[in-house]
Amino acid sequence: MSEAKKLFIKTYGCQMNVYDSERMAETLGGSGYETVETADQADMILLNTCHIREKAAEKIYSELGRFKGLKAAKPDLKIGVAGCVAQAEGEEIMKRQPMVDLVVGPQSYHRLPEMEAKVTEGKKALDTDFPEEDKFEHMPKRPKASRGPTAFLTVQEGCDKFCAFCVVPYTRGAEVSRPVERILTEARELVERGVKEITLLGQNVNAYHGLGKDGPMTLDQLIWALNDVDGLERIRFTTSHPNDMTDALIAAHGECEKLMPYLHLPVQSGSDHILKRMNRNHTAEEYIRLIERIRAARPDILLSGDFIVGFPEESDADFEDTMSLVREVNYGQAYSFKYSSRPGTPAAERALVDAAVADERLQRLQALLSEQQYAVQDTMVGREVSVLFEREGRLEGQMVGKSEYLHAVHVTAPNTARGDIRKVRIVNTERNSLGGELI
Ligand code: 5AD
Ligand code: SF4
Repeated sequence: MSEAKKLFIKTYGCQMNVYDSERMAETLGGSGYETVETADQADMILLNTCHIREKAAEKIYSELGRFKGLKAAKPDLKIGVAGCVAQAEGEEIMKRQPMVDLVVGPQSYHRLPEMEAKVTEGKKALDTDFPEEDKFEHMPKRPKASRGPTAFLTVQEGCDKFCAFCVVPYTRGAEVSRPVERILTEARELVERGVKEITLLGQNVNAYHGLGKDGPMTLDQLIWALNDVDGLERIRFTTSHPNDMTDALIAAHGECEKLMPYLHLPVQSGSDHILKRMNRNHTAEEYIRLIERIRAARPDILLSGDFIVGFPEESDADFEDTMSLVREVNYGQAYSFKYSSRPGTPAAERALVDAAVADERLQRLQALLSEQQYAVQDTMVGREVSVLFEREGRLEGQMVGKSEYLHAVHVTAPNTARGDIRKVRIVNTERNSLGGELI
């Protein structure tokens, strides 16, 4: 038997790319590849890229530059670019970096084996179609090997919201939901392999409307169906749009035991003028009322968000509205970004806010969000949480896992294993994790 070829995949960007990378590795497994941890061992390098902000996209070219030496030393090394930069820039990538052999958009991963074969023949391979067929159905089933206790499962892709700043509707295309039965089958297989917690992924996951036995099902219905999967202990989902938080989904947060009390619900800005210019289709007040309803259903829920500062036309007063909204909501976790103009999006035509002003706003917002994160962590001290252990810690007998609230928790727990769920009392808080004791 010939030796397995070596594949190195580097993943950038969101969790959906993490999921896609796993599936690409499986697909290329069928072409005789096994994954390796470093680029210098590889026969094929795949960069799974992100186009959401300019910095993320430019990183790819500097990373490719670093492979020049490897390619010179091993001329038949194959170099591929996948993901959203591949979709957005296509052939341009090969023009700018001629050593790239293969460019594949996020909807065409099931065609990778043919593309790899083409490259083996010395040709270039490019595929940025939006094919009719569902790529996931044409990719191999997950192999049965055991795996860690947490997994991502993509249930929905693409977005129809067209926020004025965002490339996703262009790089990932229109919203498509995977059928319920396929998701349940994949979930059961994951559980058989040791998975206890599944995070349902979608660019706009709460707009999920996949086909069930009796017609389309909504995300809350999918969650309830997953709730019946024996051995699956925890369900999460991300990322959601405020306008798709239905009453039934809110209620599930109070009623479905396996659904974890953590919600990532980006608002982007607290100014009605900016929300309108962003095409978000709701006001700051509506978002705050929505948060109140979610907290009424699940009072201890930990809220997370995304924010953009320096969006075109954002005035000092608009920014202060964002700061007020943050103070009112009180986030346990959040991500904030300086606006990055993306070619092809409506906002790309508009005048930029002064960079120094935007930087200063970002610093102030991040300081407030960190303060809130630490304050929420402080409130955890003394509380009892349940921790799903994911790995061993650095200290003797130490295990690290996640609480219901997605806090990383370090615990001295010598007689526990990955995948165990234990009651833990939180005893201290560090910068980005908590410490606890087994109860
Ligand atoms: N500039 C800055 N941040 C952006 N995001 C999306 N597009 C842009 C952009 N052009 C942020 C949003 C989104 C998160 C995934 O990335 O906050 O929720
Ligand atoms: Fe982008 Fe999210 Fe807006 Fe869709 S809802 S356009 S993915 S920011």
